[in-house]
Amino acid sequence: MARTSPVSNWAQDFDVLDAGYIEDPFSIWDELRTECPIAHTDRRGSNWLPTRYADVTAMAHDIGHFSSVEVAVIPFEGEEPEEPLLPYGLPPISVDPPIHTWTRRLLLPWFSHRRVEGYEGLTRDLCVRLIDDFIGNGRADAAENYAQQIPVRVIAHILGVPADLADTFTGWVRDVLEFADDEPRRIKAMEGLFTYFIAEVASRRANPGTDLLSELLTTEVDGAPLEESVVLGAAALVLIAGVDTTWSAIGSSLWHLATHEEDRRRMVAEPDLMPLAIEELLRAYSPVTMARIVTEDVEFGGCPMRAGDRILMNFPAANRDPEVFEDPGTVMLDRTHNRHVAFGSGIHRCAGSNLARMELRVALEEWLRRIPDFRLAEGAEVSWAGGQVRGPRVLPVVFP
Ligand code: HEM
Repeated sequence: MARTSPVSNWAQDFDVLDAGYIEDPFSIWDELRTECPIAHTDRRGSNWLPTRYADVTAMAHDIGHFSSVEVAVIPFEGEEPEEPLLPYGLPPISVDPPIHTWTRRLLLPWFSHRRVEGYEGLTRDLCVRLIDDFIGNGRADAAENYAQQIPVRVIAHILGVPADLADTFTGWVRDVLEFADDEPRRIKAMEGLFTYFIAEVASRRANPGTDLLSELLTTEVDGAPLEESVVLGAAALVLIAGVDTTWSAIGSSLWHLATHEEDRRRMVAEPDLMPLAIEELLRAYSPVTMARIVTEDVEFGGCPMRAGDRILMNFPAANRDPEVFEDPGTVMLDRTHNRHVAFGSGIHRCAGSNLARMELRVALEEWLRRIPDFRLAEGAEVSWAGGQVRGPRVLPVVFP
């Protein structure tokens, strides 16, 4: 069933939930970039969609005019409670300085290079076990049986919550991000997630461990313990930001290799390409779009923006801007000039990028080591999720 009414004018009435946009946004961005580089729509409120690298990065740095108080691409249209459970939302992603500065600092150590190295062994073991389960069949759903299963379990480990709840966590994250236009579904998932984390916080207070949740509960800022709402919001953010994003990046990369035989062969033959290839796949298939709210009436790029308008921070389109990237529509696995903004730009730049890169690298290394030769299954119907996070959800592949 179509989730939106058809779009006839992308410059004035775009819709990021349009089925054609979700499947192939690239040609739409290319056209907009030359004809109307900041598109507009009145669907779900007044929204702007920049497509040029220079505009997207300038807006990301102008935190005075473009606030992070709401970063959901699909606005929440349900009723807000008078006393919200989370006055700061999911810090640091949902706050501006000064709260942003100290809440971001709480999370950064968990995703430092050194810590991330410590998560590599369990990520590799996990990839090996997942492949063991389907390698004998000659076929698999590379999204559902593989990509989707990896980040959620690594995040569960970091948060100190059981990995066997992976499907439940995945369901919550999908309902919040992928099905954000289905209000009851989104609300139910948020309730499920917070009810779970509230209980976990209570049990950590009684029996502290060494996980992120336990440590946040004993962290002090300016001599005072953190408010519980900050702990809950930050923990929920780690789950929401760390799961769908990375699984989409792994899935899109496998989709690319399943559909571009030359690149697949090259990755197998030249394993040293991996670091550059990962950056190129992140650039070309950037999964994440974030929102900003305009704080006061402002003209930007000739567009009359009003206080309260939403900006869709189109990092994926910025990464395909020919002003910045040579032949941006072509994946060049050895591209060296690649200042992509898949992880954002400015003060909110992804706090988990070391972890995301490690997971993507290990997932591809293990897959290519065991399954060097694979392609899309005959007649496969690949399906994509879009909106806030774009990536394949069904990706049937076959291998000898
Ligand atoms: C390929 C995978 C990922 C991509 C493409 C990605 C992308 C992004 C982007 C674009 C932002 C900027 C948000 C903004 O400007 O509003 C961001 C922020 C963030 N990401 Fe990631 N992310 C990924 C994986 C992860 C992982 C694994 C974690 C770990 C939990 C994570 C945690 C965060 C956090 C905490 C922030 C907020 C930072 C802040 O507001 O200061 N992300 N991410």
